[in-house]
Amino acid sequence: MDIAGAAALVTGGASGLGLATVRELHRMGASVAIVDLPSSDGADIAAELGERAVFAPADVTSEDAVSGALDAAQRLGNLRVAVNCAGISTANKTVGKNGAFPLADFTRVVTVNLIGTFNVIRLAAERMSALQPLGEERGVIVNTASVAAFEGQIAGGLLGLEGRHRRHDVVDRARPRGSADQGGDHRARSVQHSPFRHAARGGRRLARSAGPAPFAAR
Ligand SMILES: NC(=O)c1ccc[n+]([C@@H]2O[C@H](COP(=O)([O-])OP(=O)(O)OC[C@H]3O[C@@H](n4cnc5c(N)ncnc54)[C@H](O)[C@@H]3O)[C@@H](O)[C@H]2O)c1
Repeated sequence: MDIAGAAALVTGGASGLGLATVRELHRMGASVAIVDLPSSDGADIAAELGERAVFAPADVTSEDAVSGALDAAQRLGNLRVAVNCAGISTANKTVGKNGAFPLADFTRVVTVNLIGTFNVIRLAAERMSALQPLGEERGVIVNTASVAAFEGQIAGGLLGLEGRHRRHDVVDRARPRGSADQGGDHRARSVQHSPFRHAARGGRRLARSAGPAPFAAR
């Protein structure tokens, strides 16, 4: 994917992994829509980056808000890149010193991290499906998981999402609108990304955090 000149949308873009990704994409010449909660520092970051950056406040769990953020991203250019970094975490055990994991907390994490990520994937892929392919693909969607997924934590649901999208290429051989496409593999690609350098393999637990900057550069 040629990033220079493309429009990109980054959720959770006002902090941590998302902010590092915003900075890296902007440095590489993309126009970037920073999607984060209205209470975040997104407006200040967009002002600091200046040209080719906009703050698009949105809760990723809201269909209307994410659609509005995608509109803002598309005003910057053709949306070719969407990166999901918005997320929250809990450190609760299923049963801890204070009793069972509060169901409301579990529900909130699943709603933001899993349903919010899927909400952005589906709406961004829909926009990308209307673009003409650039080389082999119309766009790229990158999702953030965690090594915690391999340890039975909530992020495991995100790996399930990735399995779905890897198999189906998100937009499965969708044709460019209005074209007499000859059946080429014009896809939107979805990539799952853990900020940790190594996945757990063969029972070994490898959990060294790469940190925001290496995450963004990968
Ligand atoms: N930092 C790491 O090493 C690491 C490791 C594994 C997994 N993760 C996961 O990656 C995600 C991002 O991590 P981070 O360290 O950058 O966290 P962070 O807290 O620095 O950034 C998350 C951003 O998401 C935003 N956000 C939260 N809920 C939102 C919502 N509903 N709608 C829109 N934006 C929302 C927050 O305002 C914040 O700006 C988290 O889910 C985290 O659990 C991070």
